[in-house]
Amino acid sequence: MPFASGDAHSSDFATAVALGTAFLAVRRGYGRIAGQIDREVRVTNQSRIALFDRWAERYERSVQSASGVFEGYDLVLSQVALSARVHRGMQVLDLGIGTGNLARRFVALGCEVWGIDFSPAMLARARANVPQVKLVEVDLLDVWPDELDRQFDRIVSTYVLHEFDLPAKVSLLVRLADHYLADQGRIVIGDIAFPTAQALKEAGADHWDKDEHYWTADGTRAACDRVGLHASYTQVSSCGGVFVIEPEIQIRGRQEPPGD
Ligand SMILES: C[S@@+](CC[C@H](N)C(=O)[O-])C[C@H]1O[C@@H](n2cnc3c(N)ncnc32)[C@H](O)[C@@H]1O
Repeated sequence: MPFASGDAHSSDFATAVALGTAFLAVRRGYGRIAGQIDREVRVTNQSRIALFDRWAERYERSVQSASGVFEGYDLVLSQVALSARVHRGMQVLDLGIGTGNLARRFVALGCEVWGIDFSPAMLARARANVPQVKLVEVDLLDVWPDELDRQFDRIVSTYVLHEFDLPAKVSLLVRLADHYLADQGRIVIGDIAFPTAQALKEAGADHWDKDEHYWTADGTRAACDRVGLHASYTQVSSCGGVFVIEPEIQIRGRQEPPGD
């Protein structure tokens, strides 16, 4: 009789049962942990969304304050529009569109603009302020819906990506460059930023908000270099700056002498 006690097979069977039980236990354990992390991520995200929803109503007043993190806000947005070097008809994607202040500039320049954001209240403001923009409600770090499955001439963003730490920023940039950026496209980002980590410290920005990750130009350039992206940087205000990011290969191609 197979698997009877004392049978050679029986010890295989016992081992298999033991391994199977252990495997299931481990899987259930991991499943529980994974489920817990998943729930925590969702809860954190829901609270971030709620925070931006609440902010939407008084957002315009915040950005017009001449001091604090928004110092030079209008200048930063204007520099993004300038550095993007757009022309009429270009497809532009605005990440974290908020109430539409940056998108409005690209609409005025004759571009076809798409805006994404995870806050329904911010999107409602954007819809009222810049009705020409196609809006999509999605978390930047989630899987994007099919309607965004296209290539944009420019991908722009202001005052959003300091939400993410440097590895998350860089992996988003790589994803954008690989899947959403058209040939000869560029990513232009304006945000709270400093030339170096030392400058960030000297400004006291390391104590402003423990959940935010302000950019440093030197760190960003080095991290981008490592993944085949080229980043150039312009400091615009005491704590605001603009990055232009392009695939390194694209820049090298432009510099090569024309072949015959
Ligand atoms: C400080 S506001 C900036 C809005 C606008 N870009 C501007 O310059 O005025 C940040 C915006 O990014 C959105 N946001 C933050 N994290 C996001 C995420 N993970 N996915 C999508 N939108 C996000 C917020 O809802 C908010 O509208």
